[in-house]
Amino acid sequence: MITLNAITKKMGIRTLFENVTATFSTGNRYGLTGPNGAGKSTLLKIIMGVEEATSGTVTLPKRVGFLKQNIEAFRDFKVVDVVVMGNKRLWAAFAERDALYEVEMTDAVGIRLGEIEEIIGEENGYEAESEAEVLLTGMGIPSPLHNQKMHTIPTDQQFKVMLCQALFGNPEALLLDEPTNHLDLESIGWLESFLHEYKGTLIVVSHDRHFLNAVTTHIADIDYDTLIIYPGNYDMMLVTKTAARDRTEEENKSKEKKISQLNEFVAKFGAGTRASQVQSRIREIERLQPQELKKSNIQRPYIRFYPPERPSGQIVYKIEKLSKGYDDKSVIKSLTMDVLKGDKIGLIGNNGRGKTTLLKMLAGVLAQDSGKIELGHQIQIGYFPQNHEEVIDKKSDMTAFEWLKKRKEGVYDQEIRSILGKMLFGGDDAFKPISHLSGGETARLIIGGLMLCNYNVLILDEPNNHLDLEAVSALAWAINEFQGTVLVASHDRDLLNNGANKILAFEENKLHLFDGKLDEYFRHRS
Ligand SMILES: Nc1ncnc2c1ncn2[C@@H]1O[C@H](COP(=O)(O)OP(=O)(O)OP(=O)(O)O)[C@@H](O)[C@H]1O
Ligand SMILES: [Mg+2]
Repeated sequence: MITLNAITKKMGIRTLFENVTATFSTGNRYGLTGPNGAGKSTLLKIIMGVEEATSGTVTLPKRVGFLKQNIEAFRDFKVVDVVVMGNKRLWAAFAERDALYEVEMTDAVGIRLGEIEEIIGEENGYEAESEAEVLLTGMGIPSPLHNQKMHTIPTDQQFKVMLCQALFGNPEALLLDEPTNHLDLESIGWLESFLHEYKGTLIVVSHDRHFLNAVTTHIADIDYDTLIIYPGNYDMMLVTKTAARDRTEEENKSKEKKISQLNEFVAKFGAGTRASQVQSRIREIERLQPQELKKSNIQRPYIRFYPPERPSGQIVYKIEKLSKGYDDKSVIKSLTMDVLKGDKIGLIGNNGRGKTTLLKMLAGVLAQDSGKIELGHQIQIGYFPQNHEEVIDKKSDMTAFEWLKKRKEGVYDQEIRSILGKMLFGGDDAFKPISHLSGGETARLIIGGLMLCNYNVLILDEPNNHLDLEAVSALAWAINEFQGTVLVASHDRDLLNNGANKILAFEENKLHLFDGKLDEYFRHRS
């Protein structure tokens, strides 16, 4: 069980939560929802104790698994070790033991080593590696990768390793921040059934409606500065929430009608003899004041990729016999295809089949092993990487405004402010340090950069990760309207159906370019 007691959290001048009290019971699976920037990640960090609340307290069980998003911090560790780190006490014991083996053996060292062995025993340390292997294999990470360094394996696999880390060591509570980002449909299915079997307390943040409906028994929804727990899954929460809103609207309407009748009476007789009746009606009017309806906390960014200054030639890429592999595993095998102006190509396929590899080569940030990529005339490429940290340095103290301004030489401040406004960084939010931005805010800022620079080719690698539903649909619309060429990798069916007119499917052993929408591709295959 996890409890929050009167939690308040202020961030600068903004209040994220005011006096939130809630209980998350064992055996229930809670979806934590709310739009980008509502404070979901912050709340999880407060529960974990990695971020302090302004006031209030949290109680939680001893073993808590937590999904981290910062893969960069683990780049030089072995995959299987990263998983074992999920058990902090055990990992610290291993580290201390290794350090003690390096120093001269004394009695004190011997005694300490004995104590450490005890801890390792208590934490089931001798099974640790094999348990980690089971998790990794379940997550679809092949065993040759288990002993490699993190940064040498593909990005999406690294995110899966982080998930294994959270699940390691049978935690009594599990806090997952957007676990389905970077996962293909098969792995999401695996995770859904895993979480179904999970017996502890689960709190999971997600913008994936289907996943939330499949997994959760309750929804904890952040609405402005409150947290309301609804029984049932996400769709049921929406129904309850809308019904409550409709009810208040109805009540307000009938109150307003009554008030106007009373007002009429007061106006008519206010100056006259029926003073006591008038007074009682005035009191009634005060009592009837309609309940203030909070405006909806849902906001939609306005995404639009402006027509390129110079249109590209008819052929955007001429790809010939392109190949790329890692170590002895070949990922892209002799691919030959043309990308034509106006193509909106959706890249689909399971994790590890090479979508990111291909996009990186097309974006010019990764070299091929062999073959040719010929760029057409006047091509200007905008790239949205799967890992945001490749373009946004979370350690820098730059503000969103400064980051965007650096994207384009000689740009006026006004233009920057206009794009930031469209991306929902209004007012002072334009000067938020990029290190503070939430996942969705970071993605919106990168998209703002693409809007600013008038590219004619956009390469988008899972741009929907972290974005809330409103932002994803705004993005699909923008891709569809764009006059240039787009290559977009995603597992989001709605985004691809509304944005892509061709599908490049990374099937088991070959690449298949299909001329049509995603649904047509699925029909064609079955
Ligand atoms: N140190 C800070 N100072 C000021 N504001 C901050 C700071 N850290 C985070 N914020 C802001 O607090 C808000 C909540 O951030 P948080 O990461 O919790 O959002 P979230 O609900 O997880 O969003 P997303 O769905 O995009 O992941 C954001 O608007 C963020 O910019
Ligand atoms: Mg978040």
